[in-house]
Amino acid sequence: MSETSTPELIQVSTQGRVGIVTLNRPKQLNALNDQLMDELGAALKAFDADDNIGCIVITGSEKAFAAGADISAMAKYNFHEVYKGDYITRNWETIRSIRKPVIAAVAGFALGGGCELAMMCDFIIAADNAKFGQPEIKIGIIPGAGGTQRLPRAVGKAKAMDMVLTGRMMDATEAERAGLVSRVVPLNQLMDETQGAALMICEYSLLSVMAAKESVNRAFEGSLSDGVMFERRLFHALFATADQKEGMDAFLNKRKASFSHS
Ligand code: HXC
Repeated sequence: MSETSTPELIQVSTQGRVGIVTLNRPKQLNALNDQLMDELGAALKAFDADDNIGCIVITGSEKAFAAGADISAMAKYNFHEVYKGDYITRNWETIRSIRKPVIAAVAGFALGGGCELAMMCDFIIAADNAKFGQPEIKIGIIPGAGGTQRLPRAVGKAKAMDMVLTGRMMDATEAERAGLVSRVVPLNQLMDETQGAALMICEYSLLSVMAAKESVNRAFEGSLSDGVMFERRLFHALFATADQKEGMDAFLNKRKASFSHS
């Protein structure tokens, strides 16, 4: 999205000093393609620069926060395109440069890149129907937006390995128990609860809020950059495999994948 164009795949609104971005690709369960991530990045940067905004919320629909990066787009990618085009790094990492707090309000599926996007936010408030997962292994790749780095930091190695290697989903209760989300609320209270938290943050000094965020991230992110870069290069490399083509083609054609391990 250019600075002036109207976003198509997100909706942007405000409530008091809270800036709200709603992911809006309902037919694809908010699958995250480049356009959506460009629009999200531009909206976040605009809120960050706006003196009338003190806190930002990212949310999706009741059915899906986001069901992952867009598999129909990724299915066509090759190694040289993702590496040279700086896939993921180019626009997803914008969220890490946002200095005001960003809260993820998650209902429904938060899978793959959707789970990773939620984890890139400062904290997650989940509806009781939320389901988190890193199912990339099922389509012949691995998480590529920090999932292998942030999930173990959030829930510990055992549960992270379980999630990343089996591709299973975690419900909201398990996610709260494991420390992935800060609160779980009934679906119909998700936005009220999140806006309540955001409005509370907005009442504090923005300077201390920004310092607090920066400081907690300092504790959380030690050597994360190296970890994410390592992951990204492996993620890119998997676009050179036959199994990536097979896994994504099988998903799109609604059949079981048959991996050749090549
Ligand atoms: C593209 C997707 C999609 C995705 C769903 N859709 N997820 N399209 N990319 N990630 C599309 C479906 O193809 C379908 O389109 C429509 O959305 C509705 O989905 P259904 O499967 O019919 O819905 P349902 O039966 O309710 O199942 C929901 C679901 C399932 C369990 C979430 O859609 C699913 O497993 N999605 C894929 C999840 C996944 O593997 N995510 C990780 C992606 S890899 P049609 O046209 O048929 O109606 C990833 C890499 C991250 O995220 C690394 C870098 C960020």
